[in-house]
Amino acid sequence: MSGELSGATALVTGATAGIGRAVALRLGALGAEVVVHGRDARRGAEVVQEVSATGATARFVAADLAEADDVRRLAAEAGDVDILVNNAGVYRFADTAGTSSEMFDVHMAINARAPLLLVGRLAPGMAARGHGAIVNLSTIAAGTPARDAGAYGASKAALELLTRVWADEFGGRGVRVNAVRSGPVHTPGTSEMGEEALRTVARATVLDRPAAPEEIAEAVLFLVSPRASYITGAVLEARGGEPAIG
Ligand SMILES: NC(=O)c1ccc[n+]([C@@H]2O[C@H](COP(=O)([O-])OP(=O)(O)OC[C@H]3O[C@@H](n4cnc5c(N)ncnc54)[C@H](OP(=O)(O)O)[C@@H]3O)[C@@H](O)[C@H]2O)c1
Repeated sequence: MSGELSGATALVTGATAGIGRAVALRLGALGAEVVVHGRDARRGAEVVQEVSATGATARFVAADLAEADDVRRLAAEAGDVDILVNNAGVYRFADTAGTSSEMFDVHMAINARAPLLLVGRLAPGMAARGHGAIVNLSTIAAGTPARDAGAYGASKAALELLTRVWADEFGGRGVRVNAVRSGPVHTPGTSEMGEEALRTVARATVLDRPAAPEEIAEAVLFLVSPRASYITGAVLEARGGEPAIG
């Protein structure tokens, strides 16, 4: 099929729901072959079907990103990819005294270590082929203190720092690495927080509303596309604007 990304293969982690699913669908619509990752095989099959309906090729690979060996297996099963979207993530909220070592470790393992292992396994191949694009999903909480989001924000701040490290490490060999710092988004994950909690976060944005997953997917798609050919090491803010002091 022809499209801006035809001929490219993309791995999207956490593509069984929310932002990742929206990214997978847009990648497919633009002609990329999509490796849909998640844990839930039923939802994985549904997204594969939805991507295939756009005319693109898709397959599902299950892996638990909390387990380092499983992340390495995912990289091996994905094979050579031209685009990597490190989207899968967890967000749980607690104050510092209420943050257990298990909770901290889970955030670091899924939100920072898994992307590190995937980039370590997949970016050298991109560099050897002379091209590639990687986008990491981050959050407002990586740069602005958010109450009860210490473990989450720290894991994504680590991911943003790694974004710049990887941009430097692989940029000379044609691989661009960027992050999208997202504001609040309507997803299955945030629906567990409840609509009022999401609205409260959204009140800290100029647009005064949560985003749809497709709006964040557009930012990701721009960064992986040839239209962003001179952009690397950047953190693109898709957060609905930062209110002025009033
Ligand atoms: N939603 C927001 O308001 C918001 C704001 C800023 C940043 N973000 C970031 O955007 C990304 C996506 O968020 P979302 O709200 O769309 O997520 P979501 O609706 O909670 O979906 C999470 C996705 O990640 C996968 N996942 C979670 N834990 C996993 C694990 N241990 N191993 C493998 N896969 C795992 C899930 O797969 P299965 O269900 O199949 O296991 C699912 O596909 C995250 O990195 C999040 O931090 C979200």
